[in-house]
Amino acid sequence: MIQGPEPEATRRIAGATESSRASRHWWDRNADEYQLEHGGFLGDARFVWGPEGLDEAEAALLGPAGDLKGKAVLEIGAGAAQCSRWLAARGARPVALDLSYRQLQHARRIDEADETDEADRSGGGPAGAQGGGRVPLVQADAGRLPFADASFDLACSAYGALPFVADSARVQREVRRVLRPGGRWVFSVTHPVRWAFPDEPGPEGLTAASSYFDRTPYVEQDERGLAVYVEHHRTLGDRVREITAAGLRLVDLVEPEWPEWNTQEWGGWSPLRGRLLPGTAIFVCVAE
Ligand SMILES: C[S@@+](CC[C@H](N)C(=O)[O-])C[C@H]1O[C@@H](n2cnc3c(N)ncnc32)[C@H](O)[C@@H]1O
Repeated sequence: MIQGPEPEATRRIAGATESSRASRHWWDRNADEYQLEHGGFLGDARFVWGPEGLDEAEAALLGPAGDLKGKAVLEIGAGAAQCSRWLAARGARPVALDLSYRQLQHARRIDEADETDEADRSGGGPAGAQGGGRVPLVQADAGRLPFADASFDLACSAYGALPFVADSARVQREVRRVLRPGGRWVFSVTHPVRWAFPDEPGPEGLTAASSYFDRTPYVEQDERGLAVYVEHHRTLGDRVREITAAGLRLVDLVEPEWPEWNTQEWGGWSPLRGRLLPGTAIFVCVAE
């Protein structure tokens, strides 16, 4: 394959349309590599909140697993829908939404392999999603959710969409709109404190190099100056204000510590940094 020139990394403004376009193309191009590299850690039907390896099975941030039965759940930035598959296996009715067609193709691939396994075991027809049926997939932008008001009991996102959107306040409003009052919304993002540090797993990632308060997006751009990858930063305070302004109540902020058992690096997340700095922030909210 002919490779183009390396994109240039910079910090500059990137609006909603440019960010969305860059993310869609980047995740379409990189979905295969992402699933190859992280699919083993994520499991086909595990619900893991981030590189520390905190499992929903243990954390129960969406509520006790026994209470998930029958609940309509929206997963945002679902990737290959591993979390949705875990929810379906507990009797929930998840919908997995992602901007990237290629990520969703991986979701379908896993469901189809699961159906084949089920059929081989039972000699019967398709089951999929670890016995929970095929996960419904929707390709859409988190900033414009194609669902009616109050159509979900719960919403969740493990590093999906929010680190990549220019208007994260809009995503919070959209989630509030599609949730029923009292519904939970739990999302994980890169811990805001990490913005100040280089994204390196080794000692070079331990020295603050830029301002935590600088919200200028991280952009990789091609030779024409078009963004090919964008990450947007919000401080902890920004996130709290966006949550409350959307009509959501923040009930917990979970900062998973790096566990002894996890020796695996994930990009700039590593046991070395994890012992010293928070890597993931998980916001637990309730629709008012
Ligand atoms: C880091 S991956 C996380 C995927 C999955 N939750 C996981 O844990 O593997 C981020 C996902 O967010 C999706 N995404 C990025 N921007 C989005 C947007 N504006 N709307 C919906 N999904 C988006 C990407 O396509 C990608 O699948």
